Amino acid sequence: MKAILSTRPGGPSTLSLNDVPEPVPGPGQVRVRVASCAINYPDVLIIEDRYQDRPPRPFVPGSEIAGLIDAIGPGVTGLQLGQRVFGATGNRGGLAEKVLLPADDCHIAPPELPLDEASGLLLTYATALYGLKNLARLRPDDCLLVLGAAGGVGLAAVELGKALGAQVVAVASTPEKLEVARRRGADAGVVCPRGPLDRDAARAFKDQLKAACPPGGANVICDPVGGDYAEPALRVIAQGGRYLVIGFTAGIPKIPLNLVLLKACQLIGVLWGPFTRDESAAHRDNVQALLTFYRDGKIKPLISERFPLERSAEALARLAERRAVGKIVVTMGAS
Ligand SMILES: NC(=O)c1ccc[n+]([C@@H]2O[C@H](COP(=O)([O-])OP(=O)(O)OC[C@H]3O[C@@H](n4cnc5c(N)ncnc54)[C@H](OP(=O)(O)O)[C@@H]3O)[C@@H](O)[C@H]2O)c1
Repeated sequence: MKAILSTRPGGPSTLSLNDVPEPVPGPGQVRVRVASCAINYPDVLIIEDRYQDRPPRPFVPGSEIAGLIDAIGPGVTGLQLGQRVFGATGNRGGLAEKVLLPADDCHIAPPELPLDEASGLLLTYATALYGLKNLARLRPDDCLLVLGAAGGVGLAAVELGKALGAQVVAVASTPEKLEVARRRGADAGVVCPRGPLDRDAARAFKDQLKAACPPGGANVICDPVGGDYAEPALRVIAQGGRYLVIGFTAGIPKIPLNLVLLKACQLIGVLWGPFTRDESAAHRDNVQALLTFYRDGKIKPLISERFPLERSAEALARLAERRAVGKIVVTMGAS
């Protein structure tokens, strides 16, 4: 079968298309014929050896997929050949014609959910829902501030924030990206300056955020970006607010802890992977909630671009270069 391989650390140009043997499902596993693999920022980090998980090479990148079950390993019950499923691969394997998934991590895609959209429903939406619902306990009267609001996690947080009844303020780096977040439900928005931000630029950005939020500030902040944007955002958090630390596409910030004390707020690290394993029942409830939101028209993964498998490197480069909006997917057939 065809697969994309990372054979040495580096950017997307180091990836190559290869013929590799089809994987054989072991006990408790199924093999899925991949229809679509959604691209995520961790895919960019992992091929550069900048992710917490460093698989031995060569490895196939690709963290979330949707497709059809085409082989079933020993001991698997409740799944059938040809079933439309989606799932997270555990950080690798998705950019290939076939991939193995633990049967327990397979979610059935209902008929109304196209497989390209299904492939983009887990890493970003389930992370955002875990953060907003399970950790921040977002309430309908809350104001939610979302950084990187046109990216994968950010746009999911915008839609879910609205689905959970909150007032949503979106932050994005261009008017076009902000417009995307507004079309997906954001009530207000701020175009952020390009970093790095000096003291004056950071203060001006904080003033923009303050003006866009209600007088008390933002009750919950969803931050998949970090960098120079984090401290100005924290400065507009409401008393008792919850700040979700999700990712660092703009770098790892250093935060003066007096801000946390002064606002009596919580900085909350969001680590979705361990949650799916350690609290698997709550995770499965969240996936069902996402499918209900989808069915009710409250969320819909925005597939902005599709690439064939052989152009996977271009798909990763779009994300790395900050040119992606919503989700980029690599598609391989069945829908
Ligand atoms: N904690 C968890 O469990 C978990 C789960 C999933 C993802 N994540 C993390 O969440 C983050 C976002 O992932 P994603 O898949 O949503 O990524 P994405 O689609 O690329 O979105 C990230 C956003 O970050 C913004 N950004 C600001 N500075 C940037 C820079 N220098 N380079 C690239 N983007 C920059 C971009 O928006 P603007 O251009 O508008 O600023 C972009 O839309 C990543 O760090 C990822 O590792 C964490």
